[in-house]
Amino acid sequence: MNSLTHDHQTLLLEASHKNITKAAQILASGGNVAFPTETVYGLGAGVFHEEAVQNIFRAKGRPSDNPLIVHCAEKQDLTSIADLSPQKFSAFHQEFFDVLFEQFCPGPLTFILPKKALVPDIVTAGLDTVAVRFPKHPVALELIRKTSEPLVAPSANRSGYPSPTTAAHVMHDLQGRIDAVLDGGSCEIGIESTVINILAHPPQILRPGSITLEELNTIAEQFGVRFEENSAQAKSKQAPLSPGMKYRHYAPNAKVLIVDSLEEAEAVFVQFSRAKILTGSAKSLVGKSSLNTTIYELSEQNLYAELRAADDANLDAVIVIYDEVLRHNVALMNRLRKAAEG
Ligand code: TXA
Ligand code: MG
Repeated sequence: MNSLTHDHQTLLLEASHKNITKAAQILASGGNVAFPTETVYGLGAGVFHEEAVQNIFRAKGRPSDNPLIVHCAEKQDLTSIADLSPQKFSAFHQEFFDVLFEQFCPGPLTFILPKKALVPDIVTAGLDTVAVRFPKHPVALELIRKTSEPLVAPSANRSGYPSPTTAAHVMHDLQGRIDAVLDGGSCEIGIESTVINILAHPPQILRPGSITLEELNTIAEQFGVRFEENSAQAKSKQAPLSPGMKYRHYAPNAKVLIVDSLEEAEAVFVQFSRAKILTGSAKSLVGKSSLNTTIYELSEQNLYAELRAADDANLDAVIVIYDEVLRHNVALMNRLRKAAEG
């Protein structure tokens, strides 16, 4: 399988058992296949297929100092990639991990763990830790099992652009750059996993996601600790602990503007020839706008699709009214603020 060229055909495969088997063969022979997970589509390569991993960076235009997440189907898959010996991973860490795993896995939670020397440096960008996730999407699980190797998978988008939540998004960004896409429909959650580091004291959330600080702390408190959000550190001059967080992210070509009220949104709206207004609870604004425009509802599930749709429709701006519903969604706002910076 030659994934090196940028001009080969990308197969778009419906995620049938037969096609998952075919996709697994492509991966096992060193190719790149994008596949659905419950969060967003991932661009896969076998973790031990270094060239295929290299191709992921090339296909996405991803900076090589941004490490990848390794996706496993079973807890026992960890033995090939993570060093959980007592010297690296104390009894406290092991128990804490076991309880978090029990509660949230498979699902949208990524753990930073000590890495085994066997894991290629390109996967972890030279760090001595490896990020691991256990996706719950049946297509992802079947693909990992049939490949018989954990799969590295960053989001299957061009670096910097909104993440893909459909196979069409992946084709839009990566057609001709990867071997195949498994089409498993829309992703249920719509934003990427929560990334945590339980090796830190206190444990840290490196990237917010649909598993919240509060949910994680109900477990952490049983261990006498509390998770800390990484936001203060992200703003400081210190090197980010999760290298990927420092780059331009999630940004469409349209300008993304976050405002605090309907009045402000309307004032901004008229400055653009083509714009769209969204908010967390559109229902609460029905009939309140003086403009002849619909206000759309924004959620984790449709965030990236809306940002991409804005570009497809050649909009100049996406205006988001920051309301009570959005105020309570740390993960969505994290992505949106980054999109607004881009
Ligand atoms: O939901 C998800 O996590 C999706 C799906 C496909 O599983 N994947 C995903 O991957 O979002 P990606 O590559 O777009 O984001 C990986 C994040 C980056 O912020 C990266 O810096 C961080 O995980 N990361 C990876 N390895 C790390 C490590 N050893 N230490 C700290 N952060 C790490
Ligand atoms: Mg990404």
